[in-house]
Amino acid sequence: MHLLITGSRGQLGQALHTYFSPAHQVTLWSRPQHDIADPATADAVAALAPDVVINAAAWTNVDGAQSAPDAAFAANALGPKYLAEGCARCGAALVQISSNEVFAGEAGRFYREYEEPGPVTVYARSKAAGERATRQLLDRLYIVRVAWLYGPGGHNFPSKIVAAADKHGSLRVVADEFGNPTYTPDVAVALEQLIASGRYGIYHLVNEGWASRYEWAAELLRLSGRGDVPLTPIPAHEWPRPAMPPPHAVLVNQAAAALGIHLRPWQEALAEYIRNTE
Ligand SMILES: NC(=O)c1ccc[n+]([C@@H]2O[C@H](COP(=O)([O-])OP(=O)(O)OC[C@H]3O[C@@H](n4cnc5c(N)ncnc54)[C@H](OP(=O)(O)O)[C@@H]3O)[C@@H](O)[C@H]2O)c1
Repeated sequence: MHLLITGSRGQLGQALHTYFSPAHQVTLWSRPQHDIADPATADAVAALAPDVVINAAAWTNVDGAQSAPDAAFAANALGPKYLAEGCARCGAALVQISSNEVFAGEAGRFYREYEEPGPVTVYARSKAAGERATRQLLDRLYIVRVAWLYGPGGHNFPSKIVAAADKHGSLRVVADEFGNPTYTPDVAVALEQLIASGRYGIYHLVNEGWASRYEWAAELLRLSGRGDVPLTPIPAHEWPRPAMPPPHAVLVNQAAAALGIHLRPWQEALAEYIRNTE
């Protein structure tokens, strides 16, 4: 299989590169050589004619998107549109990586693949627009929503918590925002299985279970031998951000699970991450 990975220097892109090479022929695209928001992207994909494109490129600065909506929509909606145009011309399949944040995340809700998105922030609206743009153009399409990604080489919640614990000796962490901590190498394995299935559609590929930010941080500190670091739970309104995240955008993997594709519990994945990074 000839695979094109966009955003190959991001944290998911790096995990995909590591996992799919050298078993598959892999072409890596990253900025500045390959900006997916350039309309010429469609021609470039058509000329390359890969079997599958995995779009791991995105504007992921959720707070920054609030004051730069055009840039966020260019990367997260127009970029996927151009990729889909190129795929349609050469017969490639597209994996469009999307986000749990396309849901409003009402308290107590668990979102399955068939639920209607209700994005709130600029980032979330741009990701939802990317889903719509690709669906309008392509049948050979997997829309894969992930959540709370972390993995080797990424600048992510676990790496920030460990750094802050070592620097400050105590932490305050939001306890009323919930999600699915999801390990990028596990997403790569699940994507290979999904692509092999040929069953196009919308999927939620997240590690099993869910947690609050506070619970995620507590488990991380415990597993990394920092269990004695004082951790104080706080409400989200005590940690104000330009883009307040959905409080309970917890995803359920129903569609991929029906095909036998499961990601392990998030605590097991976190333990592996710590073994590999400490
Ligand atoms: N991180 C999360 O917790 C999370 C949660 C839910 C969904 N997601 C989704 O998962 C996917 C992967 O996220 P990630 O955490 O791996 O993000 P990341 O580490 O921020 O990587 C994104 C990559 O995309 C590149 N990029 C941005 N705009 C681009 C453009 N116009 N053309 C080409 N490349 C561009 C960035 O390049 P530069 O380095 O040059 O900026 C960066 O290397 C994204 O679709 C994201 O929306 C992430």
